[in-house]
Amino acid sequence: MMNFFPSTLRFIALLPIATVAMLYSGILFVLYSNATPGISRTAINVLTQRYLCHSTGIKEDLAAQKFIRSGRIKCLSATAMDIIIAAGIALENVTGFTVVSVPIDSNSPMALLPFRFKFFEQALDEELDTIEQIVVLGAGFDTTTFRPSVVQAAGRRNIKIFEVDNPITQQVKKEVVEKSGLNASHITFVPCDFEKTSWLEALSHCQEFKSKARTYFLWEGVMYYLTEKAVRETINTVATEFPAGTSLAFDYFRLDRFARRYLWAMRLYGEPLLSSIDTRESQDFRETLDDFISERSDGKMRITKQGSYQYFNQGDFGGVIKALVA
Ligand SMILES: *[C@@H]1O[C@H](CO)[C@@H](O)[C@H](O)[C@H]1NC(C)=O
Ligand SMILES: *[C@@H]1O[C@H](CO)[C@@H](O)[C@H](O)[C@H]1NC(C)=O
Repeated sequence: MMNFFPSTLRFIALLPIATVAMLYSGILFVLYSNATPGISRTAINVLTQRYLCHSTGIKEDLAAQKFIRSGRIKCLSATAMDIIIAAGIALENVTGFTVVSVPIDSNSPMALLPFRFKFFEQALDEELDTIEQIVVLGAGFDTTTFRPSVVQAAGRRNIKIFEVDNPITQQVKKEVVEKSGLNASHITFVPCDFEKTSWLEALSHCQEFKSKARTYFLWEGVMYYLTEKAVRETINTVATEFPAGTSLAFDYFRLDRFARRYLWAMRLYGEPLLSSIDTRESQDFRETLDDFISERSDGKMRITKQGSYQYFNQGDFGGVIKALVA
C-alpha cells in the first residue's frame, strides 16, 4: 500500500511515453528486421527476451544488454525497451499482477524462453569440469559463450569454444560484439553455409578443433527450423563422430499444439517450423523422447536431463533436452 501512490503516479506519467516507445519499437522492427539478410526475426526476439530477463532481474545476461545497447542491431532500441519495461514494472506495482517480470517456473507463455535459458545454462554448467570443447550450432545472438562461468572455465581448463553460423548472421554478430566492447578472444567464429556444407566439415577446417574430444553441443532454438533429414544428421553425427561424455542440448515443440496457437506468428515471421517431436495423446511422452533420440543416434545416446514447458500446464507442449553419448 505504501507504494501504491508513487507507483500509480509513476505509471500514469510513464503511460504516454511508453505508448510512444511501443509504437516506435514496432516501427523499427517492421522497417529494419528484414533489412539485413541473414538475421532472423526469431533470433532478434530471443535476444529481446534475454534483455528483458536481465532488466527485470529474472536472469542475468549482461552480454544481451550490451548487444542491444551497442546500437548495431538497427531494429531494436534499448531506450524504447527500457521505457516499456519501466512502465510494465510500475503497472505491476499498481495492479499486483506480473506483466514483465514473469517468474521462470510460472505456467505463463512469457516464462517459456526464460525457462529454456535457465535449463541450457544449468545443462552446460554441469559439464564445465569435464568437457574439452563447446560448440554452439546456429548461434544467432546467443550469449552463452559470454557467460562469466563459461569464460572462467574456458580460461581455467583451456576449453575451446566455437560458434557455428551462417556467414551473414555471424558477420553481424561479430560487429555487434565488437561494438559492445566485449572480449571475444576465447571464441572461434566458424562460418558455415549449412545448405552446402555440414557443420562438422566447417569445424574440421579449424586448427583448434578436435574431432575426438569430449564436446558440449548447444543447439538452441534451431531444431524445428530444419528438415527431419537435417535433424537426423546432426544427432547422428554427434552420436557417431564424438566420444562418450559428449552431449547435445536442444529444444523442441510438439508441433500440433504449438502450430494451433502460433502458426499465424510463424507465418508473419516467415520462418516455418519443419520438425518436431510429436508425442501422441495416448503415449508416454518421456518414452517418445527416448525413442526419438535412440533411433537417430543408433542407440548411442540417452537423455540425461529434460524439462517440459509449463505452458498452461500442457505437459508435452514442448521442452528442452540434454542427451549424452554413452
Ligand atoms: C515497485 O515496488 C517495489 C517494492 O514493492 C519497489 O522497490 C520498486 O521501486 C517499485 N518500482 C516502481 C517502478 O514503482
Ligand atoms: C581478452 O581476454 C583474454 C583472456 O581470455 C586476454 O588475454 C586479453 O588480453 C583480453 N583482451 C582485451 C582486449 O582485454
